[in-house]
Amino acid sequence: MAGALGLRTRPGWESLASSGRQVGGRAMGELSDTGEDGAGGGEAAGVPRLDFGTADRGTPYARYARLAELHRLQQPRSTVEAEYAFLVTTQVMELLFDLLHHEWRLAQRALRADDLTAALAALGRGAHVQDVLTGSWDLLATLTPAEFGAFRPALGEASGFQSAAFLRLEFLLGNKNGALLRMYRDEPAGHAELTAALHAPSLYDDALALLDRRGVPVPHAASTGRHRADPAVVAAWRQVYTEPAHHDLARLGEALLDTAERVTRWRQRHYSAVKRAMGRRPGTGGSSGLDWLRRSAEQDVFPELWAVRDEL
Ligand code: HEM
Repeated sequence: MAGALGLRTRPGWESLASSGRQVGGRAMGELSDTGEDGAGGGEAAGVPRLDFGTADRGTPYARYARLAELHRLQQPRSTVEAEYAFLVTTQVMELLFDLLHHEWRLAQRALRADDLTAALAALGRGAHVQDVLTGSWDLLATLTPAEFGAFRPALGEASGFQSAAFLRLEFLLGNKNGALLRMYRDEPAGHAELTAALHAPSLYDDALALLDRRGVPVPHAASTGRHRADPAVVAAWRQVYTEPAHHDLARLGEALLDTAERVTRWRQRHYSAVKRAMGRRPGTGGSSGLDWLRRSAEQDVFPELWAVRDEL
């Protein structure tokens, strides 16, 4: 049955289907008590349909969400039970990195179009994505050093540090480091996309450009290096926050700060998960591990928005 539904062939699914155990509060097969011939299959008002077009195999839902492919992607490399949660969490976070990128790009395009309302809406949706990302660490919160150590050799040199989706987000924030592109030298398409992201203005660059267009002078140019705190940019935000005429730009500043704070929260939860799962051992990606992650978490995103707090 699991195979017919396109589900990954895990022992759990097979036995669940054949045992008729409860799923979502109802025994499997209980939805229609009129057999599988379609009778009672949704003709009555208010009841979901059980018959669909037969042009393709599977339910329309499975085809839409590409479930057959999706559920085949969870292939742990070891027989350690805890690896399944680690792998699923990694894949969930990767998808959420992409969704977050989508929202931040929408925000960036809205800023370029002087549409502050749309930019704030996209940043707000992005903040919700970030909350889910940060909450996802709960899935690994109880991973013990014994469990992690048992499947860690199966990871080889694999580390989240090598995530291209994460790096693309970092570049969009303005946390740029072109040297990291070396990791993708064997993947021309990925390398080209990240090179373009390195050279493109960041979300923050576009926010500062909007300030400038709205009469708050910001002597700032996009760069391919990591954005460092600039006193002239602090002065621009001070003007935004202190002059009532710029209250809508102050809302943008606060939305960017919401974003920045959530980036740090994700890093802090990562740090805690690592501390709990492997203590002070070096990372699979070759870093010193905890110390490296702590330094990364300590770096403020959009630093002038934090620095200006000292002066308000
Ligand atoms: C408890 C399990 C985990 C441990 C022990 C762990 C450990 C580490 C370590 C030590 C680093 C530093 C680089 C290195 O030497 O490898 C790192 C970086 C990173 N990890 Fe994890 N990690 C875990 C789970 C995850 C998950 C589920 C993701 C989701 C994709 C992830 C994403 C990342 C990212 C994006 C970085 C780079 C962070 C940055 O540049 O600030 N990690 N991880």
